[in-house]
Amino acid sequence: MTAQPTDRPWPLGVEGLAYGGDYNPEQWPQSVRVEDVALMQEAGVSLVSVAIFSWAQIEPRPGTLEWGWLDETLDRLHAGGVQVALATATASPPPWLAHQHPEILPVLADGTVLWPGGRQHYRVASPVYREHALRLTRLVAERYRDHPALALWHVDNELGCHVPHDHSDDAAAAFRRWLEARYGDVEALNAAWGTAFWSQRYDSFDEVLPPRSAPTFANPTQQLDFARYSSDAWLEHYRALRDVLREVTPGVPTTTNLMASTRTKWLDYFSWAGDLDIIANDHYLDAADPEDHVELAFSADLTRGIAAGRPWILMEHSTSAVNWQPRNRTKRPGEMLRNSFQHVARGADAVMFFQWRQSAAGAEKFHSAMLPHGGTDTDVWRNTVELGRTLKAVAELRGSTVRARVALLFSYPAWWGAELDSHPTNVLSYPATVLAHYRALWRRGVTVDVVEPSADLSGYDVVVAPTLYLLSDDEAANVAAAAARGASVLVTYFSGIADEHDHVRLGGYPGAFRDLLGVRTEEFWALGEGQTVTLDDGTSADLWTEKVHLAEGTEAVRTFADGDLAGGPALTRRTVPAAAGGGRDGAAWYLATRVDADGLQAVTDAVLAEAGVRADVPAAPGVEVVRRHGADGRSWLVVLNHTGDGVRLPVTGHELVTGTPAGDGLVVPAGAVRVLRES
Ligand code: GAL
Repeated sequence: MTAQPTDRPWPLGVEGLAYGGDYNPEQWPQSVRVEDVALMQEAGVSLVSVAIFSWAQIEPRPGTLEWGWLDETLDRLHAGGVQVALATATASPPPWLAHQHPEILPVLADGTVLWPGGRQHYRVASPVYREHALRLTRLVAERYRDHPALALWHVDNELGCHVPHDHSDDAAAAFRRWLEARYGDVEALNAAWGTAFWSQRYDSFDEVLPPRSAPTFANPTQQLDFARYSSDAWLEHYRALRDVLREVTPGVPTTTNLMASTRTKWLDYFSWAGDLDIIANDHYLDAADPEDHVELAFSADLTRGIAAGRPWILMEHSTSAVNWQPRNRTKRPGEMLRNSFQHVARGADAVMFFQWRQSAAGAEKFHSAMLPHGGTDTDVWRNTVELGRTLKAVAELRGSTVRARVALLFSYPAWWGAELDSHPTNVLSYPATVLAHYRALWRRGVTVDVVEPSADLSGYDVVVAPTLYLLSDDEAANVAAAAARGASVLVTYFSGIADEHDHVRLGGYPGAFRDLLGVRTEEFWALGEGQTVTLDDGTSADLWTEKVHLAEGTEAVRTFADGDLAGGPALTRRTVPAAAGGGRDGAAWYLATRVDADGLQAVTDAVLAEAGVRADVPAAPGVEVVRRHGADGRSWLVVLNHTGDGVRLPVTGHELVTGTPAGDGLVVPAGAVRVLRES
């Protein structure tokens, strides 16, 4: 996927790579606010997100508007040369709104009401809430439409973050409208939901509910459609606010901060992408993951996939520890800079944080910030200044893009479907499965585009489809076409099982991929807790096995060496003849079990080798190298040394972080970041 760096929208008036974070001046007295801008200048900050949680400050009581503090903030930022991603201020309604209208409060599946006192206590489908949110958005837009600091609209905040699913009566009404639009008449819904089962037939849309707490498993297609509806409901809310902004300020780009990572399940960001002028993402490390930098890289590649290859904004990450995990890890020396540049390497043209100044009060006071409680004589502040300086030094990266020969298919509906209840096993994790494959590719230094199954796959030599449980006929055909064009396609267990309504594709698994792979699975053999099997090369596998039959021409590359399926195929390969019209043959691999990390590395290596895909620049394990390409033919290597040893890479050019020529190889000290303009 190679996006052409054309006239894409970008925050107005921001040069080079943008740098900054969420700025919450309403938490501070005037003297501090004045100091803030001076310190932002010292750090090289160019863009801050303002007024995200400011509704109660802007409108302390119904109809009373207090703009003074915000006028002053924007004026001062502008005078200091800092541009503003101005929020709609709708992210958390003020207490008075919930007090006057308790019917805006969201409801869980079991009827629990989520009360004010935290944040985001609103039902996205509430007509009352939405009317107020639209009203406030218009007021903000009209007030600041001509303000010179206005660079970007920041709609709400992490839409759906805390309440992806609301099961209230408003949600029920909106869900019914959504279903009517999707199915037209209730018999089509009955067919899609398979309601002949368990006496679930509906006679009218009025009888349909969101999946609320029920005596046993709720209808799977109802659950799936409710997930689709909920993602669409949040998107529709975004669109409504954006449309107000576009109407008032047509020239100002609009975005909202996504949470694309292995953690956020319920919003189908691929379906959102077309509605955002610029893709923006938030990412936080998982302190319990010893290889959290690999998950970070995955998140960044997924964000670039959502952005269709165009540069994107890292809207939030943390300078050091967060406050919301069970144990919150402080970042090690150099880690924050590496984290930031991992995102830049993978296409981010902006590095921003939650938040500028660490709060003294409230639930996030122990969350790190660019300017910590300890002030400027701290490592965190010195890191903030160093990052600002380093981003300036590499400003020429702006607008350049990343190219990959490997596509890793990622699908939110497949995630929802794979993890529904009442399945062969309840402990299958879709994101963990995808990440295991990503990690094997990352270890080989291979750049990967994380894209949806319907993406244009024509530029890829390798396509990996882990546990793609559910997909449409068109998506399946798209994957098969990649193999017929010469790509090596790797599909894994519990893929191609169901259509988009979660109806099993009959005739043997993996239905949608049976012909492509040349296999037919007769029965799944889910393994018990702690149970493993061994493959004929000694690889250990767990969780899942299958009784697989091979079609003519399909070869068993590995078989099960023990267990109930001993002697049966575990890894298969079929040569896929080139499509009519020539070209080269492709290959279709099927992995019918969950192998351990070494086993998965071996499978991945075999697929990469046959496709002739290897790292652009060979580097020691733990040294990450990603190339960005400019429209003018220039290219840069972004190098992150995650190890404790210095390395020398056999590349030449001009190194931008240190400002020195690299004539005799590029030296990258332990833990360091380097950006080489290649000669
Ligand atoms: C994000 C959110 C921010 C802040 C941050 C803390 O989810 O957008 O407002 O809460 O997390 O990590």
